[in-house]
Amino acid sequence: MSDVAPTPDPAAEHAERIEHRWAAIMVMLMVLLVAIATFAGLFHAAVPQARIETVDPRTLHLGGEFIESNLGSALEPDGSVTVRVIGQQYSFTPSCLLVPTDTPVTFRMTSADVVHGLLIAGTNINLMLVPGYISSLRARFDAPGERLMPCHEFCGFGHEGMWARVKIVDKAAFAALAAQHVRLSCVP
Ligand code: CUA
Repeated sequence: MSDVAPTPDPAAEHAERIEHRWAAIMVMLMVLLVAIATFAGLFHAAVPQARIETVDPRTLHLGGEFIESNLGSALEPDGSVTVRVIGQQYSFTPSCLLVPTDTPVTFRMTSADVVHGLLIAGTNINLMLVPGYISSLRARFDAPGERLMPCHEFCGFGHEGMWARVKIVDKAAFAALAAQHVRLSCVP
């Protein structure tokens, strides 16, 4: 006596319904993410940056914001800090950046020659330095410490030796130093 229909298992049917529902939700989620990525990609390709700042790389050393005496960290009247840096084959000036903890920090950087890149290890800070343009980025550091800042864009034979250090010090210690010097760095 065969031909006995298998008895439906209500628990298995229930589990299958739930799996189908999840599969449908996952497909919808993927479609949504692809749509967002497509829109963002097309939007950024079609619309130029809101603010582009230019600077003449041939006269950086003669005057203006990136003259040597103005490089390094500056404490602004509103309590924030601006850090100005130049990249050139094959170093950053200053070669050691001093920044405080718990303070809004604005990096303003440019290149004196070719395209360089920089990242601060252990953070999401990652910039391209393009001659003729000012790269600007805002950041905040939670804890004191020391981090490496290598150039990550091939810029010539000395590329691998192009890096700087970033020293993050306590906010109060930074304020004490800023009371004595107009521009700060940790270059020995
Ligand atoms: Cu500068 Cu690589």
